[in-house]
Amino acid sequence: MTPLRTAAVLGAGAVGSALLDELPHAGVKVLAAWARSSGLAPPPLLDVDVVLIAVPDSAVAQVCAQVEVGPRQLVAHLAGALGLAPLLAARRKGARIGSIHPLRAFVRGERQDFHGAAAGISGADATARAQLAVLARRLGMMPVQTSDRSRALYHAAAVLAAGSQVALFSEAVRAFRRATGISEPAARSALLPLALGALEKLRSRPATDALTGPAVRGDHQTIAAHRKALPKSILALYDALNSVMLRLSKPEARSPKPEAALRPEARSRPSKDAGRQRSRHRP
Ligand SMILES: NC(=O)c1ccc[n+]([C@@H]2O[C@H](COP(=O)([O-])OP(=O)(O)OC[C@H]3O[C@@H](n4cnc5c(N)ncnc54)[C@H](OP(=O)(O)O)[C@@H]3O)[C@@H](O)[C@H]2O)c1
Repeated sequence: MTPLRTAAVLGAGAVGSALLDELPHAGVKVLAAWARSSGLAPPPLLDVDVVLIAVPDSAVAQVCAQVEVGPRQLVAHLAGALGLAPLLAARRKGARIGSIHPLRAFVRGERQDFHGAAAGISGADATARAQLAVLARRLGMMPVQTSDRSRALYHAAAVLAAGSQVALFSEAVRAFRRATGISEPAARSALLPLALGALEKLRSRPATDALTGPAVRGDHQTIAAHRKALPKSILALYDALNSVMLRLSKPEARSPKPEAALRPEARSRPSKDAGRQRSRHRP
């Protein structure tokens, strides 16, 4: 497997800018960078090892269809929610296709790198998967193999870990403000150390050991008092979370089980379709 040494980056937003900054430190020379603000179509990219398409998910297929690529090249997108179908135009031109999705939030205008994040990797062939896994490591990320079949589940897990935490926190702030009458910034400051402290525990232990609160203590009276006090609009959310906490606090939840999915590069079972596709394209 030849490592990727040269790249083109299409898109100059949050992720595209981070790639432009970080690829040279990962030993990958950026030979072309394109943004639609140039007003031009992407240039021919036949001299780079990898074309990284860092545009919004909805534009990946359209941008991919515009690029001139060929055999021995790899075309990859950065989108967690997309499978490889939007890259089929590149595959038809003979290129290998894949995806490298950094599991980290990037914001436009802020200098951010990839270090310490996991990266969801997928590829239509073993070489694409291996090359993208090596690229992820060189950027400082931990590669985790995914497949088209598991991609939606993989991305749902990422959303539960990030955006959903923020949404849950906002409900906590709303309830706290109702209880205390303080301002939104003050409520956020009051609750944030609690939230960050709870998440911080997950660095060194699983959720079963990090959990605190009335469900863990089996304190049903307190739970009943919470249910009475909470606005009706968030009761369903509170109950759903409570049932997860009750499950986590049961002794059987603590028994160690081999969890393949937690191993880096644990691969989801390939689908029959994926198998058929692979054999169809085998030379
Ligand atoms: N941001 C994150 O936290 C994050 C994390 C992991 C993965 N990703 C993935 O990374 C990819 C890029 O996301 P991003 O956050 O970097 O997006 P972004 O900040 O919005 O930047 C997108 C870039 O694509 C350009 N663009 C927008 N629409 C286009 C179109 N129709 N045709 C061609 N170019 C177009 C934008 O140009 P203008 O500047 O002219 O609008 C900009 O250069 C997405 O697939 C996303 O899912 C994002």
